[in-house]
Amino acid sequence: MSNKAKSNADILDALKEAQAGKGYLSEEDICKVAKEYGRYPSEVYETATFYTMLHVGKKPEHVIEVCGSTCCDAGGAAAVISAVGKELGIGLGETTKDGKWLFRRCECLGRCDTAPNVMIDGELITNASGEDVVQRIRKAGR
Ligand code: FES
Repeated sequence: MSNKAKSNADILDALKEAQAGKGYLSEEDICKVAKEYGRYPSEVYETATFYTMLHVGKKPEHVIEVCGSTCCDAGGAAAVISAVGKELGIGLGETTKDGKWLFRRCECLGRCDTAPNVMIDGELITNASGEDVVQRIRKAGR
């Protein structure tokens, strides 16, 4: 096994390069990067799933991210998570069976004063309620 990379930053660059063009990382991409950098595929998978700009598996049509940092957590994120989970039938970190919706937690979005905050397809929803987010999901074609 070669040991081309010494840091996760090198692996991150390799993953970004592998993702470029098609917009997601396949299992083969993960294994190829692991082999190239002398790492276990599970290590590379951990790196790939840690960073939100990387997508393992086909990129979903929609991404819902609920801020789970302190202010949003204290400000009612759990109610939003519960409502979205019920609407989509999935939990945090999961994708709907049709591959259309990815639902995940994210770190502070820098708008702690308007907690809880949710990001849907890159659009920030401030003072979010479960009902708001569910309506947006339905409007987007759920
Ligand atoms: S804690 Fe959620 S935006 Fe800062």
